[in-house]
Amino acid sequence: KRIVILISGRGSNMEAIVDACAAEGWPASVAAVISNRPDAKGLQFAAARGIATDVVDHKQHATREAFDAELARVIDRHTPDLVVLAGFMRILTPGFVEHYAQRMVNIHPSLLPAFTGLHTHRRAIEQGCKIAGATVHYVTAELDHGPIIVQAAVPVLPDDTEDSLSKRVLAREHQIYPRAVRWIVEDALDLRDGVVVHRRGEP
Ligand code: GRF
Repeated sequence: KRIVILISGRGSNMEAIVDACAAEGWPASVAAVISNRPDAKGLQFAAARGIATDVVDHKQHATREAFDAELARVIDRHTPDLVVLAGFMRILTPGFVEHYAQRMVNIHPSLLPAFTGLHTHRRAIEQGCKIAGATVHYVTAELDHGPIIVQAAVPVLPDDTEDSLSKRVLAREHQIYPRAVRWIVEDALDLRDGVVVHRRGEP
């Protein structure tokens, strides 16, 4: 299986997936890492691992449609079976999402369906949530929706700041995202009535 990972910045989830893929010998390889920002830190890590890197700069495209068309062209050069959004901070057009239907996943730093959108940790603290977390899900046209593959929960502690909570959640993201991608490349998942089920029983 061929995996293409899209990033916009740090790329720590991308690193976790690249490392797990190599260390655990998945029936897959990361064919390319693509960023919409030329200065994304994660590009250096990918290049150092000998992975092809590309930049499709949204600022060089007049419309979302033009950007998404170019992005799809660059992604498809790598003939991916799976497109992994890992801190990719662009809203995608319905046409783009449709093109990768059931072969594109995202990680979102909240326990969906709570807190779609931005500033999830700040909002969880403001709302007095006692539990926060992260969700890996298939991407559908509606932002931060789509069938849930795996979630991880962490406690929100009394003295938490946005920063301390995001670090606690991120550590769990690095565990669940590789696990979810592994399930997909090993063909372990199925969609039944829009819900993810494990073909060979729950793990
Ligand atoms: C993660 O918290 C992810 O959930 C969110 O953006 C952040 C990306 O971090 N979508 P990184 O680029 O993977 O380090």
